Amino acid sequence: MARDKVILAYSGGLDTSVAVKWIQEKYNLDVITFTCDLGQGRELEGIRQKALKTGAVEAVIKDARNLFVDYFVWPSLLAGTMYEGKYPLATALGRPLIAWQMVEVAREFGAVAVAHGCTGKGNDQVRFDVSVQTLAPHLKVIAPVREWHWTRTEELEYAAQHGIEVQATKQSIYSVDQNLWGRSIEAGVLEDPWVAPPADTYQWTVDPRQAPDAPIEVVIEFDQGRPTVLDGEKLDGVSLIEKLNKLGGAHGVGRVDHVENRLVGIKSREIYEAPAAIILHKAHQELEYLTLSRQAQRFKTYVSQTCADIIYDGLWFSAFHQDLMGFVEKNQRFVTGAVRMQLYKGGCNVMGRKSDYSLYSPALATYEAGDQFPHETAVGFIKIHGLAQQTQARQQLLKGEPSVQPARIMPPAGS
Ligand code: ARG
Repeated sequence: MARDKVILAYSGGLDTSVAVKWIQEKYNLDVITFTCDLGQGRELEGIRQKALKTGAVEAVIKDARNLFVDYFVWPSLLAGTMYEGKYPLATALGRPLIAWQMVEVAREFGAVAVAHGCTGKGNDQVRFDVSVQTLAPHLKVIAPVREWHWTRTEELEYAAQHGIEVQATKQSIYSVDQNLWGRSIEAGVLEDPWVAPPADTYQWTVDPRQAPDAPIEVVIEFDQGRPTVLDGEKLDGVSLIEKLNKLGGAHGVGRVDHVENRLVGIKSREIYEAPAAIILHKAHQELEYLTLSRQAQRFKTYVSQTCADIIYDGLWFSAFHQDLMGFVEKNQRFVTGAVRMQLYKGGCNVMGRKSDYSLYSPALATYEAGDQFPHETAVGFIKIHGLAQQTQARQQLLKGEPSVQPARIMPPAGS
């Protein structure tokens, strides 16, 4: 009798290779691996072959780089999502896409379950599970690494017993996830937040001290918030990001060191390398400063922060996310123009910006001849603007500080 099937998200690494065998034994399922190209720069055919050699009945690979950029990266850039002001969310953006694609593959093969190699204390398990449960509630989710509770040694023993090939090269001492939008590095010596990241933490960016002594400038053109042209050359999203990763990396741009709040209630020290993401978020925001009204800009910061939490927390496929993106889409309609960014020894700074929809009015801003600002009107405006505060000062603040009644919300110690 044919066995039921499971679709396993497969990277070719130790965990997911062991999982191929482990799932077959523990759950008596045929394993179909699925590997998605999100621009992580790994050669997929080799991974496919390894999956088959390890015992998968089928190994599916898919180039999802364009989907990733169009449906996940650009929307996140438009929304200005930078988790806790520091992390451009590369890993968090990849998970819902992989989950979505796995659900598609599960449909195609009539699988009853999907599986992933996430641990039980990270955010990634949440993103996978919630996305799958949302898109295909009939699918069971299996998470071998979360279930088997092995030490590294025990896992290696299992691999040896089952003839699973373990890379001869020393396994990375860090846990790394990477895609087009960035590299996430954690664990090993990085677990001590006082310890500076060793040189081998970084692979995409040079040490800023070793970066070229001459700065370079890049000009990025945006069309309704989406980057479309780099240094005068019209590029598809994937190429534009790849180019900026190279240019930024060569100048040491895009390193992030963050002690972040995980959804599962712990703080963890994370290192990120994301040259293109850092440059594009900064440039995009500069164009917004030029083209959004003060009110729209202020409101957008709330939306950005909320969207970042939604993405980080694995709630990509929620109605609230769609609703907020409805605002973002509208809010980006005049964010069209160009930004000059200088890359220099780890720094990335705006040098200039322009837009046909610029709200910057030279005639109103200038201190030189041609000034059209209505100076006389300022006096009346200021009078009304300050009226409430003036009243408050008279009625409250200038009467002397009253003593404050304590409002206790905790029982006294020892009660
Ligand atoms: N802390 C980041 C996040 O939660 C990155 C996780 C990286 N995952 C990994 N397997 N190294 O999005």
